Amino acid sequence: MKKAIIQERSSCAGTARPPVGVEVSGLSKNFGTQRVLKDISLTVKPGEIFTIMGPSGSGKSVLLRQIAGLDQPTKGTARINGLDPADPDTRDRFAIALVFQAGALFNSISVYDNLALYLLEHRLCPKKEMRDRVMRALKILSLENAVKKFPSELSGGMKKRVAIARALVMEPQLLLYDEPTSELDPVMSATITEIIATLKTEFNVTSIVVSHDRDLALTISDRVALLMKGELRALCSPAELRKVEDPAVKDFLNPTIDLKKPRYQQLESS
Ligand SMILES: Nc1ncnc2c1ncn2[C@@H]1O[C@H](COP(=O)(O)OP(=O)(O)OP(=O)(O)O)[C@@H](O)[C@H]1O
Ligand SMILES: [Mg+2]
Repeated sequence: MKKAIIQERSSCAGTARPPVGVEVSGLSKNFGTQRVLKDISLTVKPGEIFTIMGPSGSGKSVLLRQIAGLDQPTKGTARINGLDPADPDTRDRFAIALVFQAGALFNSISVYDNLALYLLEHRLCPKKEMRDRVMRALKILSLENAVKKFPSELSGGMKKRVAIARALVMEPQLLLYDEPTSELDPVMSATITEIIATLKTEFNVTSIVVSHDRDLALTISDRVALLMKGELRALCSPAELRKVEDPAVKDFLNPTIDLKKPRYQQLESS
């Protein structure tokens, strides 16, 4: 996989564009009376792999949507190189790609068309170049043989890789991943983790990864933010995170199963 990416590097126009930085400042998000994100501030440096971890329902995907400009904060701001991500001018200026939690592929069109759609819609390049860009992204993700397939004909791991390939076609400066390794076997999870790390180094892209995956977070991240109940509980390097003494953080990273005090009896209704 790595070899294929390196071989493609020289022909990828995306390498010329500098990665972007992200700044989240005093950001809160409410849905009705539910306070989902509470006063989050963090900075993601250009070229960094920044992982947002946290229990299910802690607000990770909601935070990613604010950073992507798909939703507006109730209070505070998210900025990409100082600009509002919800502003169409910002989207024109920077290539921002989001790999959605469920892949979000269009089921009625082929893998090729799923990848080509963005380029077609934005009339970004002539047909020949479009084909080259699509095939290059498929090759990087070892998906050349799936080009004519439909999403319903793909395994879960292939769908995740197609979703990443579709993001790559945009030649992004900022790649946002929502749970890229969920529902995958350990080997495929490791493969996707390696792909994320390799895309960072080969294409110099800034990556924000939302994930429960402890292995991914602790191996490839430059820094990790841990969200709990909408609050930032830790923000540090993976090595520092392993040493955090906060019991809630330790329990999240190394949960124990205690049948005498089962967790399901302690769940709060959301
Ligand atoms: N559009 C919405 N309208 C109302 N509530 C929402 C909306 N989106 C998310 N929520 C609520 O916000 C909370 C956090 O959701 P979010 O999807 O960010 O969780 P998460 O940390 O990504 O969880 P998971 O790991 O299970 O994906 C949940 O209680 C959810 O019900
Ligand atoms: Mg989520």
